[in-house]
Amino acid sequence: MPRYAITTFGCQMNVHDSERMHEVLRRAGYTESEDPKAADVVVLNTCSVREKAEQKLLSEVGRLAKWKQKHPEMVLVVAGCVAQQEGERLLGRSQGIDLVLGPDNIPELPRLLDDIGLGAPPLVRTVFDLEAPRFLTALSVASKTPTAYVTIMKGCNERCSFCIVPYTRGPERYRPSAEIVAEIAGLVEAGVREVTLLGQTVNSYRDPSEALPRAPGASPDDPDESEFAALLRRIAAEVPGLARLRYTSPHPRHLTPSLLEAHADLGVLARHVHMPVQSGSDRILKRMIRRYTRAEYVARVGSLVARLPDLSLSTDIIVGFPGETEDDFAATLSLVREVGFRGLFGFKYSQRPYTPARKLADDVPEAEKSERLARLFEVSEELLGAHLQKLVGSRQRVLVEGAGKEGTNAWSGRTERNEIVHVAGAEGLDLRGEIVEVVITRANKHSLQAELSEEARAAAKPLPSAPAAPPPKPRVAGERRSLPIVPVGGG
Ligand code: SAH
Ligand code: F3S
Repeated sequence: MPRYAITTFGCQMNVHDSERMHEVLRRAGYTESEDPKAADVVVLNTCSVREKAEQKLLSEVGRLAKWKQKHPEMVLVVAGCVAQQEGERLLGRSQGIDLVLGPDNIPELPRLLDDIGLGAPPLVRTVFDLEAPRFLTALSVASKTPTAYVTIMKGCNERCSFCIVPYTRGPERYRPSAEIVAEIAGLVEAGVREVTLLGQTVNSYRDPSEALPRAPGASPDDPDESEFAALLRRIAAEVPGLARLRYTSPHPRHLTPSLLEAHADLGVLARHVHMPVQSGSDRILKRMIRRYTRAEYVARVGSLVARLPDLSLSTDIIVGFPGETEDDFAATLSLVREVGFRGLFGFKYSQRPYTPARKLADDVPEAEKSERLARLFEVSEELLGAHLQKLVGSRQRVLVEGAGKEGTNAWSGRTERNEIVHVAGAEGLDLRGEIVEVVITRANKHSLQAELSEEARAAAKPLPSAPAAPPPKPRVAGERRSLPIVPVGGG
């Protein structure tokens, strides 16, 4: 049986796409190889959102191409955003690539590999499925972890001036709500407790099958109104067995009254929202074409927190955007404090091809960008640290995702606000996928330490025999944005 290996760079969309590639290849009779060097087919699922990520990919391709000189039978596939962005040009830039595959062409992977096996020259397949969008599912992941991603839309209709995603992922396409509900129901049936809905601007969702009733609070005259809140309500009503529902990443423009109502009404929605803001300066927000002002952002997230005071907010921020002055950056720092983000991904601006911001000089020196990023993280760590410290001594409900560090006998999981919690005092108990009550004993820098409560210990089931092995880790390279963890980091 032919063997394959997939290495993933970049965001959750890519992690999700890699899961789909696993599924498509397994169905076609391939088996996974832990070691890419022992694989017949090596897939690099790539990211192009920042230049650094793209460079990492090219050096990895170079390394594999060298290996391939001695093992010419190995098939090298470059998938994901760099594939979509560069297409045919990649073949010229790097020797040894056999297949360039766009994110919408994953279902064709086995057929294209067959063609290559028959001696086809290097192939490029990077066509958007605009007429009949396909949303692949991966029910097989359900048996491995209690959390899963479900794609509800792909592409992006925004034109944030720094961002290459609209170019690499194409225009917005939405998945019918019945299909989304069916996938979630299937996952829950198979043991998944928490689902994260995925999309580039996940809350601009509209049901192409027009099967959703208008949600409470939805105004027909609001240009930012979508059917996202109605979708959340449908999922909550039709999959009552789902314990937690998250989504990422929303755009602040679509944080409309109907979505606020849904958060207030639906107990299944986690008390954490990741809401990218990018900058705290109106001048820079305008140049970024974000289409909201600082005051609008603050008002919108403010009304969310007013309704749900225990809700945590996290965000994405870019430092060193063209023309960003010290005053603009100071405005970003003051926004971070004003909103009280408990996590953030910070990025140094990186000029990308095909983006409107290319016309602006990338004029903040690299050293200045690094310095601003460090100052941003300092504020963010301070806010997160103070928040975690406040939780010491409290009781929290944790969804246990898997075994903690090897040899510690601990489990780890997250609260609904997304704090990472390491749970001790559970020797011999099987907690995977359980929502358990814990008492927080200590705050670490980015996580919490806890003891299982007496009640939870009494109710837990024992481990079948040997301690459960941690779930297999996907091979994720580079700067993966691992959102469901209280984010502090980035590059
Ligand atoms: N809507 C997407 C955003 C994709 S890009 C989502 O679901 O996450 C992720 C983040 O990368 C953005 O929010 C932005 O903060 C950062 N980013 C995008 N383009 C960038 C660039 N050219 N330079 C630096 N950071 C960038
Ligand atoms: Fe990128 Fe802005 Fe869309 S950050 S993904 S263009 S919302």
